[in-house]
Amino acid sequence: MMLSIENLEVKYGNIQALHGISFHVNKGEIVTLIGANGAGKTTSLHSISRLPPPEAPRVIAGDIRFNGESILKTKPDQVVKDLHLALVPEGRHIFGNLTVMENLQLATYARAKGTDFEPEYQRIFDLFPRLHERRKQRSESLSGGEQQMLAVGRALLTGCNFLMLDEPSMGLAPVLKYELFRKLKQLNDEGMTILLVEQNANLALHLAHRGYVLDTGKIVAEGTGEELLGNPEVKKAYLGG
Ligand SMILES: Nc1ncnc2c1ncn2[C@@H]1O[C@H](COP(=O)(O)OP(=O)(O)O)[C@@H](O)[C@H]1O
Ligand SMILES: [Mg+2]
Repeated sequence: MMLSIENLEVKYGNIQALHGISFHVNKGEIVTLIGANGAGKTTSLHSISRLPPPEAPRVIAGDIRFNGESILKTKPDQVVKDLHLALVPEGRHIFGNLTVMENLQLATYARAKGTDFEPEYQRIFDLFPRLHERRKQRSESLSGGEQQMLAVGRALLTGCNFLMLDEPSMGLAPVLKYELFRKLKQLNDEGMTILLVEQNANLALHLAHRGYVLDTGKIVAEGTGEELLGNPEVKKAYLGG
């Protein structure tokens, strides 16, 4: 088991956002966390990536373990550098006034000087040929789908082997959602472990090996993607009947 969330409770000030949730991600898996707006999906990812205060949710009980060790005292930069865990945040947060290439180059800043990043850029351009075509364009001129690809590319340049994505399909046209999810499948086939947070339950459950349903800070269902797609409660609440 690579990542294990154990009875995690977190608060923002006096507001409790997670009420003792437990889930895990095995090496090589795609696991999805689905749930409506406000369920606690982003809070879960921010708890794992150790988002710095003041925005950070405060862990009041439970544990987060990575390869068996608690990471509650791990700093956000160590999560990326030492644990090789990267987050593609909700809303992408790319630098619109920089080119595609400049955004990618920026993502390498924390890595060892003298590293040859060419093979890594090449890997990203192989995965997302559109980014190669547009590498000299300002990022704000990209379509939503291309910006999401750039956000994924940037996360890959941290040297991660565990990728967390916060609602990557949000705002994308259906055809681009499918394309992006195919790329996530390809990354997973190449060895990337993935924790995917999505409101688009249908798409996420078709991609993922396993999933968890989060409702107002609690896990209310779990199973394989197939099991959850066939679960009547899940169908009713998240799959449009
Ligand atoms: N910075 C914050 N301060 C206070 N409450 C927050 C903050 N961020 C999220 N919350 C609350 O925590 C709960 C979970 O939010 P969030 O994790 O963003 O849900 P989701 O990503 O599933 O939409 C919600 O009730 C939300 O209002
Ligand atoms: Mg969210």
